[in-house]
Amino acid sequence: MPDKPRILVTSWLVEEDDPALQVLRDAGCEVVMGRSPRPRTVEDMVQAIKGIDGVVAGSDNYSAPVIEAADRLKTIVRVGVGYDTVDLAAATKKSVQVGTTPGTNHHAVADYAFGLMLALARRIVRHHNSTAAGKWQREAGPDVYGKTLGIVGTGAIGKGMARRGRGFSMTVLAHDVVRDEELARALPFRYVELDELLRESDYVTLHAPLLPSTRNLINAERLRLMKPTAFLINTARGELVDLDALTDALRAERLAGAALDVFPKEPPGDHPILHLENVIVSPHVAGGSTEANLAAARMACESVVSVLKGGRVAYCVNPDVYGGARA
Ligand SMILES: NC(=O)c1ccc[n+]([C@@H]2O[C@H](COP(=O)([O-])OP(=O)(O)OC[C@H]3O[C@@H](n4cnc5c(N)ncnc54)[C@H](O)[C@@H]3O)[C@@H](O)[C@H]2O)c1
Repeated sequence: MPDKPRILVTSWLVEEDDPALQVLRDAGCEVVMGRSPRPRTVEDMVQAIKGIDGVVAGSDNYSAPVIEAADRLKTIVRVGVGYDTVDLAAATKKSVQVGTTPGTNHHAVADYAFGLMLALARRIVRHHNSTAAGKWQREAGPDVYGKTLGIVGTGAIGKGMARRGRGFSMTVLAHDVVRDEELARALPFRYVELDELLRESDYVTLHAPLLPSTRNLINAERLRLMKPTAFLINTARGELVDLDALTDALRAERLAGAALDVFPKEPPGDHPILHLENVIVSPHVAGGSTEANLAAARMACESVVSVLKGGRVAYCVNPDVYGGARA
C-alpha cells in the first residue's frame, strides 16, 4: 500500500472547513491546503506539486514545467470550467487526467454579469462611493429594461444571460460558433455575426472561452463598431479583450463604460483602465456564489477520489489520456 494519497487544494473557492473536503478524508486522503489569494506562479507550483497525487485546483499555473516536476500526480480537477492555465498536452503525456466542474457556477456568473450591467448603467458604484464620502451627487444613466443585449458565446452562462435579458424585455442578439437554434426560437433571441452584434447592442457581454480564436476578440477595430453609448461586460477571460484598446476607447468616449471581472494578467497591477471613472472592476469572482462554491468543491473532490480508485475524472478535458499508457 503506497503512502496516503496527498491532495493539494489550491482553489480559493474551497474553504479550510469546507464540508466537501470530508469526501477526500473519508477516502483516506491527506488534504494539503495551498490556497492563495492570487493564482500561484510556475516557480511556486513546481515546488508545491511534488509528492502530490491529485489537485483540487484554482487558476494556478499548470504549465509543462509544473506537470513535469510532479512525481506522483494522477489528476488535476479545476474547480470551475476554465482550464486555460493547464497544459493539456503535458498532462496527457504524463497520464494526468484533467477535469472540470461544469454546471456548478453558470447561474452565479450570469447573476454577477447581469448585476455588473445594471451597476454600470445606473452608476451604482459611483453613487455609493460619492454618497459614502458625504456628497449628494446624482447622475442619470440609461435603462437596461427594454434595451438590446449582445451575448458573445451562448454556452451555459450565455444562455443564462439570454434568459435574464428576456426577463427584462430586452432584445437579445447572440453570436456563437455553435448555435442553439431551438433555444433561440423559444426565448426568443437572434443569432447574428459578431460585427452586427457589436453595432446593434446597448450592452455587450462576453461568455466565450479563451481559445486561439477568441484571444483579443474584442480589439481596437471591433471596439470601433460599438455605439458610443454602449457598455462592455467581461466575466469570461481577460485575454478576450485588448485592454489597452479598451482603455483608449473609454478615454476617447467611443464607449460609455466597461465592467471587468477578469484580466489578461491577474491581478492586473496598476493598469490605467483601473483609474477610469466609467469602469467597474472585480477580482475574478463572478463564479463564486456560496451555493456554486459548495457544489463545485464537492464535485471536484468526488472526481479526484474517483481517479484515485482507478476510475476516470469527471468532465475530462484531455480524453486522449485514455488512449495512452493509462488505457
Ligand atoms: N469570471 C468567472 O468567475 C468565471 C466563472 C466561470 C466561467 N468563466 C468563463 O466563462 C466562459 C464561458 O463559460 P460557460 O460555462 O458558458 O462555457 P460553455 O463551454 O458552456 O460555453 C462557451 C460557449 O462559447 C462558444 N464559443 C467558442 N468559441 C467562440 C467564438 N469564437 N465566438 C463566440 N462563441 C464562441 C462555445 O461554442 C460555447 O457555446 C468560460 O470558458 C470561462 O472562461 C468565468
